[in-house]
Amino acid sequence: MSGSSAGNRGRVTIKEIPIRGKRVLIRVDFNVPLNADGQVADDTRIRASLPTIRYALTQEAAVILMSHLGRPDGKTVEKYRLKPVAERLGELLNRPVTMAPDCVGPEVEQLADNLKPGSILLLENLRFHAEEEANGAQFAQALAKIADIYVNDAFGTAHRAHASTEGVAHDLPSAVGFLIQKEMEALNQVLISPKRPYWLILGGAKVSDKIQLIDNLLDKIDGILIGGGMQYTFFASQGIPIGKSILEKAHLGTARNVLAKAKERKIELRLPLDHIVATAVEAGAQWKATDRPGVPEGWEGVDIGPKTIALFQKTVQGAATVLWNGPLGVAEIPPFDQGTRGVAETLAGLKATTVVGGGDTAAAVTKFKLADKMTHVSTGGGASLEYLEGKLLPGISVIPEKSGSLPSPLPAAGRGGQGAAEFRGF
Ligand code: 3PG
Repeated sequence: MSGSSAGNRGRVTIKEIPIRGKRVLIRVDFNVPLNADGQVADDTRIRASLPTIRYALTQEAAVILMSHLGRPDGKTVEKYRLKPVAERLGELLNRPVTMAPDCVGPEVEQLADNLKPGSILLLENLRFHAEEEANGAQFAQALAKIADIYVNDAFGTAHRAHASTEGVAHDLPSAVGFLIQKEMEALNQVLISPKRPYWLILGGAKVSDKIQLIDNLLDKIDGILIGGGMQYTFFASQGIPIGKSILEKAHLGTARNVLAKAKERKIELRLPLDHIVATAVEAGAQWKATDRPGVPEGWEGVDIGPKTIALFQKTVQGAATVLWNGPLGVAEIPPFDQGTRGVAETLAGLKATTVVGGGDTAAAVTKFKLADKMTHVSTGGGASLEYLEGKLLPGISVIPEKSGSLPSPLPAAGRGGQGAAEFRGF
């Protein structure tokens, strides 16, 4: 096991700090997709935060929730207001959720002061203030001022050292919520002593995005299946024509290295046997299937072909553990979602431990209504990738370690640091 994944273990959880009757400030990741009418299009992340919120309510805590939505870059942007999220949360909990006009300031302080035990206040989008992403100490203190306890349950944002994910933990007694705990337990299953045979399925556009993940897992896996846009850099690195498919020219060497390392370590690496190619990556484009590896001139690879789907499905049948990160084709544009769908359907029927990384892969599995058939679908895209790369996530490492857990391999860091943080509290 890599040293740094040990550092992501064993943090104090919400159950281990006294929150009864207290004002509890919970960082959640309500960065959810909205539809054209500004309504929540996928409430997975809101639902994922419910166990922690419900637990705090049963403890008669006054619950103050905070989140970002989108990337408003330090300015108030109307379309990124959290009101639709407050409405959806209220529906799911079947109780009122008060929407604050801002996330800091006298009005918010008053609302928090008057908040009754068992009530919920949602602060306005944290990223309307530039100090949030800058992890400003004063801004973090202004957030801390309205509560007695801080709980981080925003797994999807735990890789960001922002005021609400890292800074505020220096100013209040802190713990992680049930979602972060669940994500850590699930991801540790594929990082620490995973059951073998262990297959890694990789897709998505770029090999450069996945190289650290591959390196961190090389001594644990038995095989890698490669699809998605990244396959074309592998083919190009072997001199196989890829037409006008996506190519990372600067990473032809990276792809060659992965092939060489896999061979050296006797890890089976399987590239697609055939492709779906199209004249353009857009709905309604002309498309056809090829019958061999490589993309004809003038065409663009948009999905794995039927032979490859069958190969990948057969391969994972024998697996005890499967980790999947990255769609295998352009999953948001049917019919270029067939490869991703076919493999998702097979994983859904396996007895193996099946862990799906967040972001686009999670969105695809959710679209196919197969998320609840997997062992775990992460709510974090960048966060799950960094966790699986073996990195310490600042939003997790800032929370005190559980006593008796493994010591962090990193030196204690001060405010804004990436390592185990100094803790002033209780
Ligand atoms: C996500 O959607 O991945 C998280 O909410 C983090 O968002 P960010 O990439 O804008 O920091």
